[in-house]
Amino acid sequence: MSSVYDVAVIGAGPGGYVAAIRCAQLGLKTVCIDAWTNPAGKPVPGGTCLNVGCIPSKALLESSEQYAHLNDGIGEHGIVVKGASLDVGRMLARKDKIVDKSTAGITFLFRKNKVESKSGFGRFVRAGETCVLEVVNGKEREEIATRFVIIATGSAPVPLSLFPVDGEHIVDNVGALSFQEAPKRLGIIGAGVIGLELGSVWRRLGSEVTLFDSRDTFLATADTQVSAEAWKLFTKQQGLSIRLGARPTSKKIGKGGIRFEYEDAQGAQHYECDQLLVAAGRAPNTAGLNADVVGIKRDARGFIEVDAHCRTALSNVYAIGDCVRGPMLAHKASEEGIAVAERIAGQKPELNYATIPSVIYTAPEIAWVGQTEQALKTAGTAFRKGVFWFMANGRAQALGETKGFVKVLADEQTDRILGVHMIGPRVSELLGEAVVAMEFAAAAEDLARICHAHPTLSEALHEAALAALGRPLHQ
Ligand code: FAD
Ligand code: NAI
Repeated sequence: MSSVYDVAVIGAGPGGYVAAIRCAQLGLKTVCIDAWTNPAGKPVPGGTCLNVGCIPSKALLESSEQYAHLNDGIGEHGIVVKGASLDVGRMLARKDKIVDKSTAGITFLFRKNKVESKSGFGRFVRAGETCVLEVVNGKEREEIATRFVIIATGSAPVPLSLFPVDGEHIVDNVGALSFQEAPKRLGIIGAGVIGLELGSVWRRLGSEVTLFDSRDTFLATADTQVSAEAWKLFTKQQGLSIRLGARPTSKKIGKGGIRFEYEDAQGAQHYECDQLLVAAGRAPNTAGLNADVVGIKRDARGFIEVDAHCRTALSNVYAIGDCVRGPMLAHKASEEGIAVAERIAGQKPELNYATIPSVIYTAPEIAWVGQTEQALKTAGTAFRKGVFWFMANGRAQALGETKGFVKVLADEQTDRILGVHMIGPRVSELLGEAVVAMEFAAAAEDLARICHAHPTLSEALHEAALAALGRPLHQ
């Protein structure tokens, strides 16, 4: 066994690799263990996010949006493009190159910060003041000893027994990021974030896309005014077909593709497609860690139970990211990783879960932070709201992207901002200002009194804050 590490991190996704770097920065002798290998069998860091999640999906969203713009939006600029054609192979190669560069970046950062990395599956042998882990890689097995452990093992798609992923007809996010051509008919189980993002990609590239969701409510976690606007744009203008309250009951796979029966409010229905994407949520990756054996508690769904500081039932074992409670988001995983590293080093960081931003990278984008209007009403909180539509924003006009709005919700008594909700062009980038404002406990009037550059999309946030005070200038 090698000498004792200060910290062993299990998992090198955005939770684990960031935690490992921060630990090393703080002078802790750190090792990061990860089991991921790329399609060529080479160990690569980055986890779901860099390999089959955030990064490749955004690469394809950008490529497909450019293609859609050439076919649809460029004419109004007076630019005539004839014969634009699609090379899906090149599009995928670009995406793969971005993934390779990003994962190579982590390898570089590990070396720079002196994080040792080990490829293989990590699990507990025993816990105590010094924990012993084993790293299994094929037939090789190595034991390591460490004072602290950070579990950052992430998540995997929830499997559906009716639709087992076969990589041919039925795929998950991994397969849907690598279709060699746009399927003629693409069915998607789950009209959530992955379904909408990847459905948008393939719809723009020519697929007929139909999403099925067992819930009756569309985008239930978003503000209802935003989800209603999104519903209108996606279904009426972009041609996504979304069927809510739809529960698949049986299926058949044949030469013509997949046919399945489902029930919805109208009764028994059926649907046929060439490929089916299963995107019905994700579940924590915590099996096989021997967590229960050493006394780490997991809940009924497999999430590792942690306190507000990500500490497990064992005082020197922490867990972060998708394998613990809270939103399954890369930036949430990373911030937990940083906070845990600093806590291990004796600092007292606090992570504000109330200001974790959410973004859906459709076109237009959807972004929010804080409480929704419906949550405030349910809680009986008195609030004022200001809404400003991009239609009245000069920069949005110049971009030719005038759909959507920004909404600011502020406490009626104190004017403190309680939530900001956006649907519109590049609102993922506008959201940062709202997050900073909320972190600093800003009032709507603070935003309203800050000078915003003209003409920028950020003026829509400025105007929404003015509207919350009852004095918008441009609408
Ligand atoms: P992961 O990224 O899942 O990494 C966990 C790592 O641990 C993996 O490498 C895994 O192989 C390894 N591992 C697991 N068990 C072991 C073990 N026992 N031993 C060794 N290694 C192990 N989030 C966003 O914020 N923005 C987005 O735009 C976004 N887009 C997404 C798009 C898609 C298609 C998907 C699927 C997800 C997306 N997400 C996005 C979610 C984001 O990817 C996750 O929230 C994030 O990756 C979680 O980070 P993590 O470090 O907790 O886990
Ligand atoms: P999700 O929770 O967003 O959506 C899953 C949908 O599937 C839900 O609407 C649910 O009602 C539906 N569903 C579940 N079981 C079903 C069934 N049997 N039949 C029909 N519908 C069913 O989960 P998704 O899209 O799989 O994404 C997983 C996670 O990844 C999310 O938590 C999200 O946070 C993260 N992610 C984040 C992104 C971002 O930040 N932009 C992008 C993609 C994923």
